Order: sequence, then C-alpha cells, then structure tokens
Amino acid sequence: LESGLLAGKKVVITAGPTREAIDPVRYISNHSSGKMGFALAAAAAEAGATVTLIAGPVHLPTPERVQRVDVITARDMHTAAMEHTEGSDLFIGCAAVADYRPETIAESKIKKDPNSPDQTLDIKLVRNPDVVASVAAKDNRPFVIGFAAETHNVIEYAQDKLKRKKLDLIIANDVSDTSIGFNSEENAVTLVGADFEETLDKCSKRQLAGHLIELIAQQYNLQTSN
Ligand code: C5P
Repeated sequence: LESGLLAGKKVVITAGPTREAIDPVRYISNHSSGKMGFALAAAAAEAGATVTLIAGPVHLPTPERVQRVDVITARDMHTAAMEHTEGSDLFIGCAAVADYRPETIAESKIKKDPNSPDQTLDIKLVRNPDVVASVAAKDNRPFVIGFAAETHNVIEYAQDKLKRKKLDLIIANDVSDTSIGFNSEENAVTLVGADFEETLDKCSKRQLAGHLIELIAQQYNLQTSN
C-alpha cells in the first residue's frame, strides 16, 4: 500500500454493530465484529489519510493515527456520521447498522408474569435512519462507499443498492459462505461501481483492506479528475 495514496484526504468510516435498548438491561444487536471497518481505517491511515472511525460497541484496539468516535445506537451513529462528514473527502459505511429499534425503551426491567398463561411478548420496532444513504444525500457529499452482505444474487442486489442509496461504490460480500465475512478473519469481496467491477479473492481482512483502499483511491481519483 502506497503511503501517499490518500495524503491530505479526510476519510470517515463506520464500523461494528449498533445496539438498540429494549429496557435498562436488554438490547437488540447483531454479530458484526467491526474487524473489516477497523482494518479499512488502519489501511486508510497507512495511505496517509486523516481518518475518523465511528465505531459501534466492539472489542478492538483503535488503529494507529485514527481518531475514534464511539457510539451505541443507530441514531447516535447517524448524528456522528452527519457531523464528521462535513468537509470530508471519502465515507465508507462498513457498520452493520440495526435496521430497527424498539419504539420505546422500558424505564425499568421488563418482568415476566409467572401467573400469566401468555407465552409471547410483543415489542414494536420502528425503522432506524439509513446512515450511508443520509451521507450520500448531503450537499457537498463525500465519495461514498457502502457494503452489501448478501446470501444470493450478490452482484445484482449490490448494483440495486448502489443506485437506491446513491453510492459511488459498493463492496459486495457473499455471506452464504461462512468461512468469510461476519466475525471471520478472512473475507472475499467484489467492488462494484456504475461501470466498474473487480473481484478480490479470499485473504485476511487486513490484506483485503489494503487492496480495497488502493482500488477505492483509484476510482475516487478517476471521478474527481473529471
Ligand atoms: O440495506 P443494507 O443494510 O443491506 O445496506 C448495507 C449498507 O448500508 C452498508 O454500507 C451499511 O453500513 C449501510 N447502512 C446504514 N444504515 C442503515 C442500514 C445500512 O448506513 N440503517
């Protein structure tokens, strides 16, 4: 990875899951480890960028020369992303943002009634804001890259998501293969643009992050030189 590739560029990256409280002791979340986003932040910093990493609750050390902003909920991540992308050049939405949150957070722990025959509990969920789409909809938007984790029709769904969320590039990830992606050390992806497609074979998330930052910088330079 060339050290001056992203010199002088401001890069914002989201990583990890978000956590949506149900009551003071419980929450809804997902298995995202944050590894891919943290590896991308490390690679972008190595390429000379000024990096802000907006991280959900994960157990990972902050990469060198990276400014880390910790958040818990999707709404916190949305606020932090909108703020930190002011004047930024690139945004990579790598976080597994919870699509829904409980409509209300119970003030005290929800108790089960031992005398009730009722075997169900209803929790109403409401939609969370879409962080990457909100950044892509800003005036003076940065170059925006999203992720698409899919189990089938991977490229087709990625292209659809690219258009719908108005992204510049999307990193398509086949999660039907459990040896890659979520929580694993390795990954294999296809980087997809409006008229661009390049597949990167399975390797460690660190190596992959280096290749991805190189390709992203190339595509960014192509667009901004027009
Ligand atoms: O729609 P889907 O969740 O598959 O899209 C994945 C992409 O959108 C990822 O880049 C993810 O970080 C982003 N996303 C987001 N905010 C959401 C949901 C997804 O930024 N609420």
